[in-house]
Amino acid sequence: MKKHAVLALLCGIPLTQVTAGDLEQRAEQSRTVVKEFAGALKAELKSALKQGGPLQAITVCGTTAPAIARQQSLKHGWHIDRTSLKLRNPDKAPDSWEKSVLKKFETRKEAGENLAKMEYFEVVEQNGRKEFRYMKAIPTAEKPCLACHGTNIKPNIAAALDKRYPDDQARGFKAGDIRGAFSITQPM
Ligand code: HEC
Repeated sequence: MKKHAVLALLCGIPLTQVTAGDLEQRAEQSRTVVKEFAGALKAELKSALKQGGPLQAITVCGTTAPAIARQQSLKHGWHIDRTSLKLRNPDKAPDSWEKSVLKKFETRKEAGENLAKMEYFEVVEQNGRKEFRYMKAIPTAEKPCLACHGTNIKPNIAAALDKRYPDDQARGFKAGDIRGAFSITQPM
């Protein structure tokens, strides 16, 4: 039995109660995984852009990003993905909890908070089960994001995006906007 569990028993604290230490530990693990995900994605995107330009990188984004998400979800036994209020891939639609967090992120941004460390986490009860949920904002950088998410997307890139994502809403972003968020669900 873990030390904190023994302590909890001795102190008469119900074991189902989530301690602040447990929350912080799960948040810290989530931050590490987000860093891995973002790092892997950035590296893939960079090399694809270098090799074949944005047109080829579209395929990389469309296959590599979901593949990394799946791989990491399997590795950790969590659900790990990206989502947004303005989607390119309709399969990434936020659920109601994610939507409310994304909206809170927008409010926090308007209040002047820096996007670099913007995150939110809490324990949520769903169908009688507790889950630890974590989200981290994804800022839009001028380079390379705007080539595929900005207002002046080159016609050949726009055409390729139209073909693959006929309902694409992930355009018209500016540098400094919240493009979306990483989202992690850890079963408890
Ligand atoms: C080469 C074009 C390209 C570039 C450059 C690019 N993206 Fe994307 N982005 C895409 C494509 C294509 C998708 C859809 C991926 C999929 O099918 O899951 C996407 C999806 C996303 C998503 C997932 C949510 C959604 O709308 O489907 C986020 C978040 C995102 N991009 C952020 C960024 C950020 C931040 C940058 C800059 C660091 C960036 N992208 C640069 C093409 C690009």
